[in-house]
Amino acid sequence: MSLQRFPGFIDAHVHLREPGATHKEDFYTGSRAAIAGGFTFVIDMPNNPIPTITKERLEEKINLAKKALCDVGFYFGTDGKNMNEFSKVWNLPQVFGLKVYCSHTTGDLLIEDEQTLKEIFSSWNSEKPILVHAEKDRLMMALKLAEKFSRRLHVCHISLKEEVEMVREVKQRGQKVTAGVTPHHLYFSRGPGIFLLKGYGEMKPPIGTKDDQKALWQALKDGTIDIVETDHAPHTKEEKEKDSPFFGVPGLETAVGLMFKAVKDGRITIADVLKYLNTNPRKIFNIPEQLDTFVELDSEKEYLVGKIGYETKCGWSPFEGMNFFGKPETVVFRGKKLLEGGKIIN
Ligand code: DOR
Ligand code: ZN
Repeated sequence: MSLQRFPGFIDAHVHLREPGATHKEDFYTGSRAAIAGGFTFVIDMPNNPIPTITKERLEEKINLAKKALCDVGFYFGTDGKNMNEFSKVWNLPQVFGLKVYCSHTTGDLLIEDEQTLKEIFSSWNSEKPILVHAEKDRLMMALKLAEKFSRRLHVCHISLKEEVEMVREVKQRGQKVTAGVTPHHLYFSRGPGIFLLKGYGEMKPPIGTKDDQKALWQALKDGTIDIVETDHAPHTKEEKEKDSPFFGVPGLETAVGLMFKAVKDGRITIADVLKYLNTNPRKIFNIPEQLDTFVELDSEKEYLVGKIGYETKCGWSPFEGMNFFGKPETVVFRGKKLLEGGKIIN
């Protein structure tokens, strides 16, 4: 088959680590990984070592991201004490929502107390969504708060059947909720495969059971889950080989190939890929059109993950050695060719 053309893909959930952890990734290397993976627009999370919870920190990030090869948007963060900053940033075009950590993960932004969560939801008086990392009963609480304060809610990296059911139920009642799933939660389930990965298979939320995995694919098909988001969370090999490894896996360079493998396996259609990686994230986060920007790939062409190495600074993938389909061959970003024959030409 010949090359098919798609609009630049959108990854609404990445951790590009700058500032503060540039030994793992920075805006330049992270954006190279994005382009190599077919993504021309990514949105960066606020859980840096010094988190993005003030306007000054956000402006610093916006400046640092000027070296990126693709477009980079940002989520603002909260530690439960910075609500007076919200109105200073929510109208900025670079801001696409507020990220709230209701469950434990990398960084110090966890909000445990329900009263504080209430104040956060009440204070984010914007059409831009609140995104939550909220597992199990924490998700139930977030859904209730979003309903109470009429806030748009995006549920990040949903991973369990019970969470899918909660989202399906409130969506059926008409609540303005959307959800994303990661390629690793779609692809892996708890069992020998993931145990072999050892520290490289540790992430938050953790990988679910076969039953959870089945529920995720089903929810993607029936529209309960709206988007695929990579949660690109690079850590060095050294950090992943420690006794208590950091949580997270890189995903920018493998998500598209995994989705076209799912097409090949008959799970989803090419039109679905476009929906999960472009039209739906564009609608949810109100992402502007990117002119003269497209990706070309052959969705029938198989390739071995890792064979030509990685652009991400961390230099590994949990999917290494697997056969995916449709590796991006060409990326043109705002009229400029950045990827040719699968290689960055910047
Ligand atoms: O596994 C994860 N790693 N999950 C998250 O939510 C955060 C991320 C990180 O920043 O490393
Ligand atoms: Zn994340």
